Amino acid sequence: MKALVYNGPGKKALEERPKPEVKDAGDAVVRVLKTTICGTDLHILKGDVPTCTPGRILGHEGVGVIDSVGAGVTAFKPGDHVLVSCISACGRCDYCRRGMYSHCRTGGWILGNEIDGTQAEFVRIPHADTSLYPIPEGADEEALVMLSDILPTGFECGVLNGKVAPGSTVAIVGSGPIGLAALLTAQFYSPAQIIMLDLDENRLQVAKRFGATHTINASGEAAAEQVKALTGGMGVDTAIEAVGVPATFITCQDIVAPGGVIANVGVHGVKVDLHLERLWSQNISITTRLVDTVTTPMLLKTVGAQRIDPKLLITHHFKLDQILDAYDTFGRAAETQALKVIIEA
Ligand SMILES: NC(=O)c1ccc[n+]([C@@H]2O[C@H](COP(=O)([O-])OP(=O)(O)OC[C@H]3O[C@@H](n4cnc5c(N)ncnc54)[C@H](O)[C@@H]3O)[C@@H](O)[C@H]2O)c1
Ligand SMILES: [Zn+2]
Ligand SMILES: [Zn+2]
Repeated sequence: MKALVYNGPGKKALEERPKPEVKDAGDAVVRVLKTTICGTDLHILKGDVPTCTPGRILGHEGVGVIDSVGAGVTAFKPGDHVLVSCISACGRCDYCRRGMYSHCRTGGWILGNEIDGTQAEFVRIPHADTSLYPIPEGADEEALVMLSDILPTGFECGVLNGKVAPGSTVAIVGSGPIGLAALLTAQFYSPAQIIMLDLDENRLQVAKRFGATHTINASGEAAAEQVKALTGGMGVDTAIEAVGVPATFITCQDIVAPGGVIANVGVHGVKVDLHLERLWSQNISITTRLVDTVTTPMLLKTVGAQRIDPKLLITHHFKLDQILDAYDTFGRAAETQALKVIIEA
């Protein structure tokens, strides 16, 4: 089968690989129908993710059809259409029982990282019963690719951890796919203001279309002052960090209101400053999280009921044969205006 393989920092290739087989009783092999590329795949290609070793097939998002199942799989059978979660979970260990699937003792974020992923014709999914979701009849499968990772990430790490509430004020620093996913799902709670920040004017315009009440180009000096001005000098109840660099974590500290929450979503590669000399008295909370995908069943219902339309995030389509072009387009998002690219079998 064809597969996109990580061959060490800066190196990737579309290669011929053997089709995966069921190894453990709980495994399913899924024929991938549609997959996508994540910002995290670009982190891997930079060499930022040491758990992902050369030779690994990338990809942790997708929808497909069950090809074969192990003897222990009871929820799925060949021919079933499924959504692949970026998080594999046994459902039984202490972390899984606490809803922390991302820390599963025998799973977590392993797909396209510690085990071969979805940017291929077939993928082996361990703990299939608790790591795949049935696709409802008549659902738009392409839209559901957005539920493998980015929608639950924006919602769980940003909106839920950030305690977005009716009438509250929210700022989302970073309007990439994750920040936009937080924007879409924050609206479940009817906050009074959702202020989106980014350096990229195109992404800010997209944010406006997705329901942002205000947008701020953060390349200017006074981004934090602008947020303060929009919130009567107070700052925001929820500041969501959706970039992953020191500057934006500082911005969040500058714009959080007394009693507020800084919800970090970004993957940080270097240390950041924490201004406790200012914040110690401000009753704020700081949260961090690796997406658990515990909200995937709920998000499936909201998409089914047309409460959110994740398809809005899809900007480009490619065939698996053209996946190197897809990477190029996704990697030059500022020029190509790419958000999420769909790669079809
Ligand atoms: N916690 C988790 O479980 C989890 C899961 C998936 C992704 N992530 C992380 O979330 C982050 C966002 O992901 P993404 O796919 O949207 O990334 P992305 O790179 O597409 O988007 C980041 C956005 O931030 C903007 N930006 C950069 N510097 C900025 C600044 N100083 N001020 C304002 N905006 C700035 C960029 O223009 C870009 O639009 C990444 O770090 C990613 O690795 C975390
Ligand atoms: Zn991802
Ligand atoms: Zn577990």
